[in-house]
Amino acid sequence: MPTINTTAQTRNPRSLGVNASSTLRWWQKAIIYQVYPRSFQDSTGDGIGDLQGIIQRLDYLKGIHVDTLWLSPINPSPMHDFGYDVADYTGIEPIFGTVDDFTQLLDGAHARDMKVLLDLVPNHTSDEHAWFAQSRANRTNPKRNWYIWSEPAADGGPPNNWLSYFGGPAWTLDTTTGQYYLHQFDTHQPELNYRNPAVLEAMLGEMRVWLERGIDGFRVDVIWLMIKDAALRDEPPNPDWSGGPPIFSLYHIHTADQPEVHTLIRAMRALLDEYTSEGRERILVGEIYLPNARLMKYYGSDPLVRGVGDECHLPFNFQLIGAPWDAQSVRTMVDAYEAALPVWGWPNWVLGNHDKRRIATRLGKDQARVATMLLLTLRGTPTWYYGDEIGMTDVRIPPELVRDPQAVNQPEVADEVGRDPQRTPMHWDDSPNAGFCPPDVTPWLPVAADYAQNSVLSQESDPRSPLWFFRLLTDLRQKSPALLGSSYRSMESGASDVFAFLREADSQRLLIVLNFGTQPHHLDLSAIAPAGSILLDTGVARQGDLHFLNSLPLDPNEGLIISLI
Ligand code: GLC
Repeated sequence: MPTINTTAQTRNPRSLGVNASSTLRWWQKAIIYQVYPRSFQDSTGDGIGDLQGIIQRLDYLKGIHVDTLWLSPINPSPMHDFGYDVADYTGIEPIFGTVDDFTQLLDGAHARDMKVLLDLVPNHTSDEHAWFAQSRANRTNPKRNWYIWSEPAADGGPPNNWLSYFGGPAWTLDTTTGQYYLHQFDTHQPELNYRNPAVLEAMLGEMRVWLERGIDGFRVDVIWLMIKDAALRDEPPNPDWSGGPPIFSLYHIHTADQPEVHTLIRAMRALLDEYTSEGRERILVGEIYLPNARLMKYYGSDPLVRGVGDECHLPFNFQLIGAPWDAQSVRTMVDAYEAALPVWGWPNWVLGNHDKRRIATRLGKDQARVATMLLLTLRGTPTWYYGDEIGMTDVRIPPELVRDPQAVNQPEVADEVGRDPQRTPMHWDDSPNAGFCPPDVTPWLPVAADYAQNSVLSQESDPRSPLWFFRLLTDLRQKSPALLGSSYRSMESGASDVFAFLREADSQRLLIVLNFGTQPHHLDLSAIAPAGSILLDTGVARQGDLHFLNSLPLDPNEGLIISLI
C-alpha cells in the first residue's frame, strides 16, 4: 500500500469576521431540506402528497436534524409544471390543503424550532392567473403590458429566435389579439413584464401576505431570468452545441442575467428586511445557474457593512451538482468558489433538487456518501433534497406515465431532460406504495421497485444505513463549532484522489479527508497533528478510534472526519 506524505498548505484561508459559531445567524447554521410536496406524504388517499402529510412527518424531519424546510410551490395551479405555474400567489392549491393547513404546518415547524421557506415563482404565472386572463383579453386592457407581448415577425412567425427550456420557441401566438407572448418554460407559463413597475409592486404585495403569515423566507424560482432584453434582440448561436436539448444551442445573453434584474432583487430583499427583527431574519434564496463571477453579483453590495449584502442571502451554488467527480476538480472548484465570494457573502452548497438526477444515481451509493460528507462539512449552508438521506435513486418512468412537460414536449431528448425520475414518492416503509399513499391507490408517479429495502423503516434498524449515516452527520454538524463556523482551509493531501481540508473554530480542529477513488491509502498527516480521533466515517464503523496520523488507513470511497489532538 503506498504511503502518502501529507503536508499542510494553507489555501484561501477565510476569516470573515464571523468566527465564533455563536455569532452566526440562523440561516448560516441551517440545513435546508427541500420537500417536493406532491411526493412526500399523502394524507388524503388521492395518490398526491399534501400539507397534512408533511405535518405528519415533521418529527421525522426534526429527528434527522434538518431545520429549514423549503416547500416546492403549494399555490393553486393547473399543474402544467406541477406548481411552477401559479394561478394565485396567496392561495393554497386544494390538492395540498388549505391556508389553515399551512398555518398548522408553519406552527408545527416553529414549535420544533424549524423554519419554513416557500417557493416564489415571480418570473411567470400560469396562463390561468387572473392577471393573464385580463392581459390577453384585448390589446388595450390595463394589464396588457403586465406580460411580454410582441408583434409577429414579418413572416408571421415568432418575434425573435428565443427558445423555451421545455422545447420549441419561447413564444406562443395568441390568436385573439394577434400578438405573441413570451414563455421560457411551458406555453402555459407566460412571463411577467418587470419593466413595468406595477408588476413588481404587485408581486411585492403577494410576498407581503406570506410574510404576514409568518414564513421565514422565499426560495425564488429562476430569479436570474426575471428581466429580458428590452429590444428583444436575437440570441447568438452557441458554436459548441453539438446536439442535446436545443435550449443550449443559443447563448442566453438577452434572456438571462440582465443588469436590471438586480434592482428587482434589491426591492425583494428590502421587503424581507422590513419584516426582519432581531433574531427573526427572513431570507431570500435565489435559484441562479451562473458561473462564479456572475453568481457573486447576486449577493448584492454591502454599503452598510452589515455583513450580509443587499440582495440574496443565499444565491444557490449548484456547482457540486455538475462537477466532474474527482478529488482535484472538486478541490479546485471549492477553492475557486471560496476565493470568489465577496467578503459579505456566506457560502452555500447544493447536492440535488427536483430538476436534477439524484445524487445516488449520479455518483453511485458509495460516492454518494462521500458527497454527503463533503456537503455537510464544507463551509456554508447546505441544501438537501428529500429522500437522498435514504439513498433514493432515479426511477425509470415508462413512457406512458411520463408527466414532466420538459420530457413530454421534447420526446427526442426526454431521457436527458425528464425530471419525473427524481420526483417519485418517498419511501417510508415496506407496505405497498411505501407508506406514501394507501396500498389501493395509484400514486401520481410510480414508487421505486427497491423501496422496501431502502425505506426509512428498514434503514432505522440498520446502523450502517444511509439514514443512520446522514443523521449522525447532521447531528455532528449542528453541534460542531468548527463545521458551522467560517474557517476553511484546503490541504495538499499528497494523493490525487483524496481531498482534505481543515475546519477550525472555538479551539476545535477538524480534518476532513475524502477518498474519491477506489484505491486504499495510508496518509501521513503528522505534519498537522500527532494524533486524532475519528468522529465519523462514511461506513459508520470507525468512530472513536484514536489514530496516530503518520499512517492513517483510508479505504476506497471512504470519508473521515477527524478531530485533531
Ligand atoms: C425552475 C424550477 C423548475 C421549473 C422552472 C420553471 O427551474 O426549479 O422546476 O420547471 O423553474 O418555473
